[in-house]
Amino acid sequence: MSFLEIKQANVGFGPVSNRTEVLSDINLKVEENEFVAVIGFSGAGKSTLMNLLAGLQRPDQGSVTVKGQLVKEPGPHLGLMFQNYSLLPWLSVFENIELAVKTVFPKLSKSERRENIMHYIDMVKLTPAAEKKPHELSGGMRQRASLARTLSLQPEVLLLDEPLSALDALTRSELQDQILNIWEKDKRTVVMITNDVDEAVLMADRIIPLTIGPQATLAEEFRVNMERPRDRHTLNDHPEFMRLKAEITSFMMGLNKESKANANSSSTSMPDIKPKDFSLPSARLDFRNRKAKPSGSRSVA
Ligand SMILES: Nc1ncnc2c1ncn2[C@@H]1O[C@H](COP(=O)(O)OP(=O)(O)O)[C@@H](O)[C@H]1O
Ligand SMILES: [Mg+2]
Repeated sequence: MSFLEIKQANVGFGPVSNRTEVLSDINLKVEENEFVAVIGFSGAGKSTLMNLLAGLQRPDQGSVTVKGQLVKEPGPHLGLMFQNYSLLPWLSVFENIELAVKTVFPKLSKSERRENIMHYIDMVKLTPAAEKKPHELSGGMRQRASLARTLSLQPEVLLLDEPLSALDALTRSELQDQILNIWEKDKRTVVMITNDVDEAVLMADRIIPLTIGPQATLAEEFRVNMERPRDRHTLNDHPEFMRLKAEITSFMMGLNKESKANANSSSTSMPDIKPKDFSLPSARLDFRNRKAKPSGSRSVA
């Protein structure tokens, strides 16, 4: 039995009569303390997959289990961090985290709670901004606050839904390092969604592509056999990095081509009907012979 497991899951949206199956026959096994990246194109169903893992979305068929227990609803053992910051704008960083911590750990004393929250704010290097409201923070800082909030709930599984895709390259690298540090120190199980091959190879133990939807499914994994910690500065010269990057990129481009080909072939399967001839008798189209209209009373002098 794996720590986290999805078995033969399908997820659809819409009424039974007109249901779109977004995810089809999803099978995934994640071991404790593993770092798994799921990579896919926009609209493929990545967030739907994350919601499925987090218990926010129930499968039409199949099952999701953590340590053998069926995931039926969201719970504190599954910490989902969204693509957009999802912080409450009227609360400070501290208060945003406090709200979540109060819900999950209601029995903590005020001082224990404060210590706990500050520990995670410090972990993401936001201590000087603890009292700031989201609008006073940069995108990277908001995303760090959001990460601190997720971590403060001490989930067994961290579900990161494209946590870094809205950030500039430098901030993105910085946060990648912070997430890796936290993961290496704290030993958590992580499933991260990304659309960036370099990011996936730098961070993950395994990379699993999600095919293009509808009926997207998980393709065969790529295992990242590279020692840790991985040094981003020398990564580009690492033969295994180069090999994996080329292989994954070519696989993803192949998916894209296949999906475009399918889209084109479906547009050619139109009914074979001969268009009706709507052409008019040529005389009526011959405007050259038209007489000029009399200018009439509307003419301006
Ligand atoms: N609640 C929903 N109701 C109907 N359709 C949805 C819902 N959530 C997602 N979808 C559809 O499912 C597909 C995958 O969406 P999503 O999982 O957000 O993709 P991704 O995260 O890969 O960009 C899209 O076509 C989207 O429109
Ligand atoms: Mg998404």
